[in-house]
Amino acid sequence: MRAYWLNEGPSAAIDEAFLASQGVTYERLPLDPAAYQGPLDALKAANGYIEQDIVQLAPDTPNLDAICAKFDKEHTHDDDEVRFVLEGEGIFDIRTTDDRMMRVVVEAGDLIVVPADRHHLFLLTEKKHIRCVRLFQDAAGWVPHYRAA
Ligand SMILES: [Fe+2]
Repeated sequence: MRAYWLNEGPSAAIDEAFLASQGVTYERLPLDPAAYQGPLDALKAANGYIEQDIVQLAPDTPNLDAICAKFDKEHTHDDDEVRFVLEGEGIFDIRTTDDRMMRVVVEAGDLIVVPADRHHLFLLTEKKHIRCVRLFQDAAGWVPHYRAA
């Protein structure tokens, strides 16, 4: 994981403690399913997540651009956005509570939780590949609400 202030660039690093102060959970987990499921089960029990699935985006994913276009504009969800990255990488741009933009670049082994109702967007990197475990409280809650222009 690398996090920094988007308007200042990669040298303006943000640490895990600051992310935590913003309600953004970040953890490293092992990539072996037998090893990561226990910590994910604990997170599910703690936060009331009941659904788990795996999502993958890759250069050959049908309608990749249309899928990405749903999430590359600022939005919120009624549910937390929980992603544990198994392969590839991705970018979360997340607003602070005082409306500054943090960029969080995640890779395999990174678990991130973007809290419900927090403005954010998601981008693929130039590799256009990510494979993630998702956890939900309710799949119906994981629908984007877009920020007004
Ligand atoms: Fe989202």
